[in-house]
Amino acid sequence: MSLVNAKELLIKAKNKKQAVGAFNFTNFEQLKAIVNACKKENTGCILAVSESAIAFMGIDNIIEIVKNETKNTKVKFALHLDHGKSYEICKKCIDAGFTSVMIDASHFNFEDNIKLTKKVVKYAKKFNVSVEAELGKIEGIEDNTKSLESILTSPTDAVNFIKKTGIDSLAVSIGTSHGAYKFKGESKLQIELLKQINKATNFFPLVLHGASSLNENLILNFEKFGGKINGAKGVDDNSIKQSIKYGICKINVDTDLRIAFTTGIKETLQNESIFNLREYLKNAMKRTEYEVIKKLQLFSLKV
Ligand code: G3H
Ligand code: 13P
Ligand code: ZN
Repeated sequence: MSLVNAKELLIKAKNKKQAVGAFNFTNFEQLKAIVNACKKENTGCILAVSESAIAFMGIDNIIEIVKNETKNTKVKFALHLDHGKSYEICKKCIDAGFTSVMIDASHFNFEDNIKLTKKVVKYAKKFNVSVEAELGKIEGIEDNTKSLESILTSPTDAVNFIKKTGIDSLAVSIGTSHGAYKFKGESKLQIELLKQINKATNFFPLVLHGASSLNENLILNFEKFGGKINGAKGVDDNSIKQSIKYGICKINVDTDLRIAFTTGIKETLQNESIFNLREYLKNAMKRTEYEVIKKLQLFSLKV
């Protein structure tokens, strides 16, 4: 199956009250593990790369490995640029064959965010590439010196933004942040706000960033093999289910997969005489695959 535009996956998921997993990868083994998990679960997903992952792997290599790994699968995959910060990087990805891009102009003011997003949408539409944008700032509420209004997504702004830009999906800020330290106390999303955004935007495809769970098992295993990750806290499964129920149809995960992969390496290298790369990479892939399968099952749960 050739790569698909992410919009069709998101609309299908939203109609079924499910969410599509968007999984970041940084190397061939992570990609392979994600695709294997999807094959086993008979579920498609969005394969996501950040600008730094592109710089690390090389854009042409990404296209080739993604096309090769996904070509004989029955399930659908989109290749997506995650948090593209400029028109130039979005254009570069579209020209290279990505089927979806995110223009993250959330660091600009509202009008400039609209202006840049619109420019990307105009170019992407010519190639049937879907566009995600971001409104609000996904940077965590606790410890933040900024006002809540400047961080969280406003439902009214969301409506105007969608109308003015022509985007296909919107990343909303409802209390999550990237990385391993999202909350100090309980894992709490702004579900009431999400409900309002969902209603105001007439059930537009909404995206949850910073959705890693940092679940107990993941952390215990990482620490068991020498990892140190004190105070890590992520989004619990119940919050994920709630977010899907109230409008999220794409869920971004990176940190959990980084931890699973690294744990696999650490585990194998407990045996100090091992120096065959394939031994520890295989274990890293196995742990990644396990984590992705659990996510796919959670996201496809009817709530
Ligand atoms: O949203 C951010 C992702 O976790 C990507 O992070 O730029 O280190 O690849 P990265
Ligand atoms: P996590 O850091 O929670 O995995 O979030 C990843 C993400 O949002 C990528 O865009
Ligand atoms: Zn993100």
